[in-house]
Amino acid sequence: MVQVVNVKNTGLRGVTVADTKISFIDGEKGVLIYRGYRIEELAEHSTFMEVAYLLLHGSLPGRKEIEEFEKQVREARGLPEYMCESFRKWPKDAKPMDVLQASVPLLAMSDPDLFNEGRDANVRMALRLIARLPAVAAAWQRIRNGLEPLPPDRALSHAANFLWQLHGKKPDEEAARYLDICLILHADHTFNASTFACREVVSTRAHMYAGVAAGIGALSGSLHGGANAEVMKMLLELEAEKDVPGWVSARLEKGERIMGMGHAVYKTMDPRAKYLKQMAKRLGEKTGKKWQDLSSQVEKAGLEEFRRRGKPEIQPNVDFYSAPVYHMMGIPRDLMTPIFAISRVSGWCSHIIEEKFAEAQEKPALYRPQAEYVGNYCGLMGCEYEPMQQRGQQASEIFG
Ligand code: COA
Repeated sequence: MVQVVNVKNTGLRGVTVADTKISFIDGEKGVLIYRGYRIEELAEHSTFMEVAYLLLHGSLPGRKEIEEFEKQVREARGLPEYMCESFRKWPKDAKPMDVLQASVPLLAMSDPDLFNEGRDANVRMALRLIARLPAVAAAWQRIRNGLEPLPPDRALSHAANFLWQLHGKKPDEEAARYLDICLILHADHTFNASTFACREVVSTRAHMYAGVAAGIGALSGSLHGGANAEVMKMLLELEAEKDVPGWVSARLEKGERIMGMGHAVYKTMDPRAKYLKQMAKRLGEKTGKKWQDLSSQVEKAGLEEFRRRGKPEIQPNVDFYSAPVYHMMGIPRDLMTPIFAISRVSGWCSHIIEEKFAEAQEKPALYRPQAEYVGNYCGLMGCEYEPMQQRGQQASEIFG
């Protein structure tokens, strides 16, 4: 017998729905861990490929394992030709997140493992999704600008190849490493909205691609991954603003949100934001400090205003500094959330595998919450059934 617990309109805050071994957040202390390792250590010393391996397989790879994993990812980077053919027919103003989401079932159509429900088959599908989502984002950026998509370069690392396929120019090592660190920092984040969406979809035994498409849809919203593009919109609006604290205060007075600040779990600064803030500073020194300075001014004004309003826990999250970082890397605003997705796909796929192949005692069930029905009820509250004939008469009486 299932005990009914009423948590309506809480967005499931504080409700534990499954076990996971993939990542952990200490929201009070501002700590994020992937498979037991602090993200700072991973960002400092690992590559995104190592982190993707870690998330998928549960342990850091040795030299042989990572060579094999990277080789497989590099070989899987090419897109099936029918994808670029269809992209060319799509409206050029289609948003990259919609294109990314729509491309996932297209990728599914030619995946030889699609209906193989074995664990190894799911790992192979994960690897292909990790390899190909960056290619989709880069291909769409080029096609919508009237350019031809570029073939992947197997000699390049994951991040460097994405920048090459996007800009048609081999990036310098530093730029590629910065992007690689961003991918590490965004790779997983426990049961956030998009990961929950992926897990919820595959709890029905739908395939991995169906789960990932749902995850991309959830990520696109401005309260989730879409926040980075909104932060950049805010910074561009503020470019000519003389009174940043006044702007922040007026915005809050109108009941609007400061994008990139606040978090459902962190009650202190998001550790990823701390790291990205340093990166924004370094990039600012290289490319001109304007965006770094502006972000810091918004942060300072926001922190003061939230403290004054008794909400000191509202602090910068991952999107706050990733926006200026991407902007300084030459990434267009509407490609910022797709970059989040091409990293987070590693976490989503790991969660999908965990959802599908958990040990018997931890096996999650099909997600099926309840809602409280507050609508009309059979003959009560003025809801009397009338056959069409009578309803039709009423309508003709009204409209003559
Ligand atoms: N700007 C202004 N007010 C904010 C805020 C922000 N960035 N973040 C939270 N708040 C306020 C809400 O308005 C709400 O106020 P109220 O109690 O007076 O209604 C209160 O704090 C709680 O917010 P709520 O959305 O209910 O819950 P939460 O703390 O779980 O919110 C977010 C988490 C992420 C949805 C929220 O902080 C937000 O919208 N941030 C901006 C969008 C963003 O950056 N998203 C990316 C997250 S990684």
